[in-house]
Amino acid sequence: MPDLMSELCSYVSANEPLSKHTWFGLGGAARWYARPKSVDELAEVVRRARRERLPLKVLGFGANLLVSDDGVDGVVVRLDAPAFRKVRWSIDDDATRSRLHVDDEVLVAAGAGADVNKLVIDAARRGCGGLECMGGIPGTLGGIIRMNAGGRFGQIADVVRDVTVVDGEGAVRTLSRDEVGFSYRRTRLGDAIVGGATLALRPDDPDRVRDRLLEVWRYKKRSQPLAEYSAGCVFKNPPGGSAGQLIDQAGLKGAAVGGAHVSEQHANFIVAKEGATARDVMTLIGLIRRTVADRFGVELELEIEVWEPSRARSDLVIS
Ligand code: EPU
Repeated sequence: MPDLMSELCSYVSANEPLSKHTWFGLGGAARWYARPKSVDELAEVVRRARRERLPLKVLGFGANLLVSDDGVDGVVVRLDAPAFRKVRWSIDDDATRSRLHVDDEVLVAAGAGADVNKLVIDAARRGCGGLECMGGIPGTLGGIIRMNAGGRFGQIADVVRDVTVVDGEGAVRTLSRDEVGFSYRRTRLGDAIVGGATLALRPDDPDRVRDRLLEVWRYKKRSQPLAEYSAGCVFKNPPGGSAGQLIDQAGLKGAAVGGAHVSEQHANFIVAKEGATARDVMTLIGLIRRTVADRFGVELELEIEVWEPSRARSDLVIS
């Protein structure tokens, strides 16, 4: 796509290795890598990619993402410019704070590139409740909203008030929480890209918020292999069950393909060791699925995003 490159060269570059942007540390390069500085620039990238019929993906922190060894033959967008990382707290405004009652909401307007872990800590410091459930879940706000990330303590949908998106035509729209269509690890955002969102938190006792957050952090640290290269939980929990428990009961802890291993600590994690490739991870995923299906009759569904060339056509995915 010579036009995109030549005309948008102030924020689009070529052949960016994606392995350095994913927690797995795996995967090939993006043909085009776009870092728009504003919603207008983002909309322009969307329109051009569409015109050129190029697949377009949005990269967050790459914490929940497996990129194929062949990379992405299209455009990968990163929303890390200041305009997309901005965060405004209604409680920081003195006039608003003095009027706050416990029943009131604290509104947080944040860009899609905002670091959710930082938001969690900032909320606890300000004595705002509702985000503790996201403690220790790595990601940008856009990626976290896109997949309705969460865990046993809650999910981001619980605190979202509205979401601003750039749709597949490059138009900017604000969607209410209902229009986003949240369900378990899913939204109905389709090809829309999250540009930012407003969260509604509850004023609370700062010590209570901190204690709840510490509990969530401790749980994660105890049960998950946080120091290794992984993409978090690989599979969604099946209705009424636990993917980690099923994989564990199938005797798969420690199973390996090449450098990809099922974690000994939490069976729903695949960790990438020295020499691992994305293909190793995919083959291990296939092995786990077949084994769990044979043993328990349960078809596990992926929670992580997988960017493969064959799947990369014309869908817009945020991770
Ligand atoms: N279990 C096992 N063996 C294992 C792992 C888990 O028997 O190897 C059992 C546990 O003992 C527990 C049950 O399975 O009885 C559920 O495990 P856990 O409490 O670890 O919760 P989870 O359902 O596996 C969910 C989220 C995590 C999140 C935690 C804590 C999903 C798919 N996973 O894990 O999210 O961190 O709750 O909030 O919803 C992620 O999204 O990447 C992720 C790791």
